[in-house]
Parts: sequence; structure tokens; C-alpha cells
Amino acid sequence: MTILAKRQPSAAAAKVIACSERGKVERAALWPGLEATSRRYISRIVPKEFSGKFGEVHLVLPHADSREKIVLVGLGEPKTWDHRKAILSIRRATTASREQGVRTLAIGIEDFAVPDTPLERIAEWAATNAHLANYEFRKYKEAPKEGWKDIAAIELTVTEPQKIAAAAKTGATIGELTNFCRDIANTPGRDMTPMELSAIAKRAGRDWGFEVNVFDRDEMKRLKMGAILGVAKGSDEEPQFITMEYHNAGNAAPIVLIGKGVTFDTGGLSIKPASSMYEMHLDMSGGAAVIAAMAAIAGLKLQANVIGLVPAIENMLSGRSYRPGDLLTSMSGKTIEVLNTDAEGRIILSDALTYAERFKPRVVIDLATLTGAAMVALGHRASALFTRDPDLSRELIEAGERSGDYVWPLPLWEEYEEEVKGTFGDVANIGKYERIGDAIAGATFLQQFAKNYPWAHIDIAPMMTSVEGQGLAKGATGVGVRLCVELIRSRFAKKP
Ligand code: BES
Ligand code: ZN
Ligand code: ZN
Repeated sequence: MTILAKRQPSAAAAKVIACSERGKVERAALWPGLEATSRRYISRIVPKEFSGKFGEVHLVLPHADSREKIVLVGLGEPKTWDHRKAILSIRRATTASREQGVRTLAIGIEDFAVPDTPLERIAEWAATNAHLANYEFRKYKEAPKEGWKDIAAIELTVTEPQKIAAAAKTGATIGELTNFCRDIANTPGRDMTPMELSAIAKRAGRDWGFEVNVFDRDEMKRLKMGAILGVAKGSDEEPQFITMEYHNAGNAAPIVLIGKGVTFDTGGLSIKPASSMYEMHLDMSGGAAVIAAMAAIAGLKLQANVIGLVPAIENMLSGRSYRPGDLLTSMSGKTIEVLNTDAEGRIILSDALTYAERFKPRVVIDLATLTGAAMVALGHRASALFTRDPDLSRELIEAGERSGDYVWPLPLWEEYEEEVKGTFGDVANIGKYERIGDAIAGATFLQQFAKNYPWAHIDIAPMMTSVEGQGLAKGATGVGVRLCVELIRSRFAKKP
């Protein structure tokens, strides 16, 4: 899909017309090219058949009263209009148009303007979210004879297109690479093995311009990554530790991004019930997000130094699997008492957190589909954010709002540390009060390995898959990519 910044839409484009709940066609004047028949038709059906309520989308296909394709989009009550609604409206307009076979869609971005927000940002949101809404995972599906229904071009129309051209391009890159993340995450566990994940990272490094190095089992042994190796033992798939480096800010201390790369999570010997195992090929969503974020950061040539780390394993059962009761010696030297082999993500991340120390990072962020409990706490509207650093917390929440990749904080108080003390080892991999506060116990476990730098943990399990109404296809959402790109952009815009 191409995204263009233009003054006027092309004749063949379906034109988005925004209406508020007050029954007014907001800025139809922006389309001076609109035919008189269409204008008459619109004023007839608004507000009778189209109330302008937020979320309402009505597609007018050419007929006797209107020879143009028109997409009416409800903005709702103007006083409640905000960036969240702008993002959703763009997605809904795109999805509805695509479903009706629209090939070119014109969006007048001034219609979606949000108070105190530069138009460039609206253009960026439009480009990113049009891409997100136009995506479907169909690598394993035969194309229908008439071809897939896809939007081929989006025209962002605005009075001064030159002003938004760069922002539209940035937004498109972020959207495309978020979809790249979704492709990686959606790929079934049979095909998306740790080896395949590292091959994808290497290819992305070549394509986008960052360095990739991968450690195999022997190298991990040399590094004493006993935590990752312990979890990896039960699987026939070779574990991989993926390291990615992008340097474009002299000798400024880097940001380290870490992503959980469990390519399939059976739960191990503490096996998951069948219904919970569904979608566990998506348990490498954090890893996929870090790979895609590296590509986006390099693609946008951000002036930043960024390191990406992805421990990649499969959590499988066999005669070689790690067992409840096992004591694993992590790279940090701390022993991990395994009480439940299904809490594997935090174990593999502990070695990555220790490895991160060698980069003397200014900040470390990990992204992980760590707990079902985070989902229970927040629903599917935000990832859970854990950090003891109030400035970092604010920074991430704001980056979430600006990027549409929302995060919300849960506590990480010292009191919780009691709950992950081991009986026979230093740290237990599940909390003392099983199922109670699991997301916090997971974060508190990780915190034991992240004491030497500013750090935040983001439990992305709540946002791993889409839910109805978000304007996203079923499956992976690409959570984390937009957040990381936004954080790094704003961080490095300031002086180190
Ligand atoms: N990968 C899962 C968490 C998960 C569940 C992510 C559902 C997305 C959707 C993780 O490895 C896990 O199994 N966690 C356990 C932890 C428990 C044993 C303390 C969980 O959430 O049940
Ligand atoms: Zn698990
Ligand atoms: Zn898992």
C-alpha cells in the first residue's frame, strides 16, 4: 500500500467524510471536487440515517444519487474527541473501505485534527494506522481468484501537503514494520522456531542496516547462561540468543530492548491445559517486537544507540525437560528455583537482563508476554508497565499515548520481593501466593536481575492479540513496536 500526501484526492478515490454527532458534515468543503449529486445525497442522509456517533462508518457506493464512493465516519461528540478516537476512526474507515473493495482511499487529515497536536502527528497516525488496519495474516491461505481485497493507496489530503509528507512517510514505515512484527508473531510454532527467528533477525539487519550476532548453545554455555539453557533443554529446537546493535549517536550510552522469544509455550512439564495452549506460538511477540523495532529505528535513521536482545527457545516437554524443583544457575550467579516450568519467560529473561549490563545502558526495557494475570488485570486495552523509576514510568506512559501503544502501571514495591524468595535457591520463579498477583510476582522476579541500571518491564500479554472493535485483524497486534520507536525518538531528541 502506498501513502501519498496530496492537496486534492484523485477522481477514483473513495472519500472519507467526517461527521460529528451534532449531525454536521464537518469539513466536506475540503472536497471541492465532490459532485453536486453526492453533496445532496449526503445532506439527505445526515443526520437521518447517519447520526455521526463515534465509531459509526457508512459506505456509500456509487448509485443513482451519488456517483462517487464516499465513506462517512462518525466522530461523536466534538468535546470528547481525542487522539485515541482519531487513531480508531482512521482504522475503522480503512477496514470498512477495504471490506467493500475500495482500492484508493482519500482521508482529509484536517478533519481528524486533535487539540494541541501538530498536523504532522495526525498524518503520522493516519499513515501508521491505515497500514495496521489494512493488514491480514494470510501467508498460509490461497488467494481468491479475484485477488485479495486490499487498499492499494491512501491519499492523505491537506492544504499544504509538503508539510506532512515526511510525517506520512515516517508513519508508513512504522506501520509497515509493525505489520512485519505481526507476520513474525503470527507464524505457527512449527515454522517460527528459534533458528528461524534468528534468521529473520539477520535478514532484517541486512535489509535495514543494523548489526546482528547470534549465540548458539555452545556460546551460551561459555557465557554461563544457565537459565536460558535450562528452559531450552526439553526441546529439539536449538536455542538462540539474538543480539542486535544500531549505533548512530556517537558514544552516547545505549538503550537496551529485550524481547521474550518463546517460540512455543506448552508450559513444559507443568503443562498447560489445551485451551490455554492455544495461541502460544505468539509467546515470542516481545522478541518479534524488538526485531521489528530495531528495523524501524534503523529505517528511520534515528540518531540513537540501541541494542536489541532476544533469548529464543521453545518451552517443550520431553525426557530432557527441566523439572519443577530444579535449581538453575543463571548468568548472574543467582540460582533460580523452578517451581513451575510454565513461568519460563522470566527465567530466560533473567540471563538477558544480566547480559545487558555489559553495554552500560542508560535504560533497559523488556517486552514480554509474561503473564495471563496482566491480562486479567488490564483487559485488552493496555500493556502492564512495571518500574521503580517515576520519570521512566511517565516517559513510557506518554510515549504510549503518543504512539497509540498504550501502557498502564502496576506496582513494583519492595514488599513484593518477599514473595519470590526461594526455599532452596535464591529466587523462586513463581510467587508464594499462587495466582494472586502473578503479574507483579513476574516483574519482581525480573527486578532481581535488573538492579544495575534504570529499567522497566512491560508485560504485553494483554495486548498480544486483537479484540473486536480495535480495527485490527485477528491475531497478533504488533504491540511494543510503536512504543519502543516513540520512546527512542523522544529520548534521543533530548541530550544524553
Ligand atoms: N506465556 C505465558 C503467559 C501468557 C498467557 C501470555 C496467556 C499470553 C496469554 C507465560 O509463560 C505463562 O505461562 N505464565 C503463567 C505464569 C504462572 C505459572 C505463574 C501464567 O500466566 O499462567
Ligand atoms: Zn509459560
Ligand atoms: Zn510463556
